[in-house]
Amino acid sequence: MKTEIIRINPDNLTDKAEADKLSYAADILKNGGLVAFPTETVYGLGANALDEKAVKGIYSAKGRPSDNPLIVHISDRNGLDRLVSEIPPIAEELAKTFWPGPLTLVMNKSELIPQIISAGLNTVAVRMPSHPVARELIRMSGVPVAAPSANSSGKPSPTCAGHVVEDLSGKVDVIIDGGNVHVGLESTVLDITHLPPVILRPGGVTPAQLTALVGYVEIGRSLVEDGFDSAEVPMAPGMKYRHYAPKAIMTVVTGPLESIVHEICRRSAEYSLSGAKTAILATDETIGCYVNLTDCETVSMGSRGNPETIALSLFKLLRHFDRRGVQYILAEAIDADGVGLAVMNRMLKAAGYNIINME
Ligand code: TXA
Ligand code: MG
Repeated sequence: MKTEIIRINPDNLTDKAEADKLSYAADILKNGGLVAFPTETVYGLGANALDEKAVKGIYSAKGRPSDNPLIVHISDRNGLDRLVSEIPPIAEELAKTFWPGPLTLVMNKSELIPQIISAGLNTVAVRMPSHPVARELIRMSGVPVAAPSANSSGKPSPTCAGHVVEDLSGKVDVIIDGGNVHVGLESTVLDITHLPPVILRPGGVTPAQLTALVGYVEIGRSLVEDGFDSAEVPMAPGMKYRHYAPKAIMTVVTGPLESIVHEICRRSAEYSLSGAKTAILATDETIGCYVNLTDCETVSMGSRGNPETIALSLFKLLRHFDRRGVQYILAEAIDADGVGLAVMNRMLKAAGYNIINME
């Protein structure tokens, strides 16, 4: 399959030339094609959610296991009505505050949702993205859009069009290049089929933001601490897979910051001595501590005081290390507060829960 790459300027969608390009992609989407597009969280791979054959195409393009359900994307609040069997009052409240934006709500599905979207569950996950290109594309297509992250299954999610080209070129009809994403990791998935709501996947909307609006919110077990017991049926099926994984063996070091830095220095010296290509994921606050390590690539993920900056760079850096042929990655843990919870969730998954605790 030949993949068309279409550049669209998100700041200029009222321009006729940009609108025409978007409407061309929207037609392909509506008529059963696969279109990758930017959202504020990560790039998504879209198909018409009501077209089973098109949705099947998503699973094969990504190499995605078929027991992992997809998020359905809408462009306005009315789009929700026909996707769910009922709209719980809490959904109205959450949608009013966080849509459009990085929050996905799991609700009981309507008859309209094909089995292949929900992977056999009675529920459907719905989200209204805030990226102007995503919203306009969905609106113009006139259909709800199923879209997982636009990476090959298991790889870090794409935060720019180049990442999508790397993974899906030749496997999808269109890749829309609408620039960089704003959050850098995926939406928060919140199950509101019962109360209290449960965070199945932490993301751009934080537990504190949700709690402030709806009161107590449960944080799904094992989101940060350890992997899923394989005997358990995970609540968000996607969370059980090894995910976001770089090619390198990645280790996350936790504990007091000084001990983290000390241990990373010690280990990197050891790896480098053995001739292995080693990289360090540091932070703005600590990067100066590694200046004497000349044999390895040290980069800052961002500032500990502003975990949003780390969210934005983590996946990009993991892909960068893949391209450089890095064999070992040593990563500093950060506080699992605010967006830091989502950062730590992704980091630990990327490392396959390979954690050194210096406590
Ligand atoms: O930010 C995002 O959410 C991105 C952009 C493209 O919108 N999409 C995304 O999709 O991350 P995906 O497929 O990579 O992750 C969807 C997650 C998976 O963990 C999946 O198991 C879970 O949502 N999920 C989907 N439907 C569900 C359902 N009915 N019940 C529980 N979990 C569900
Ligand atoms: Mg994904």
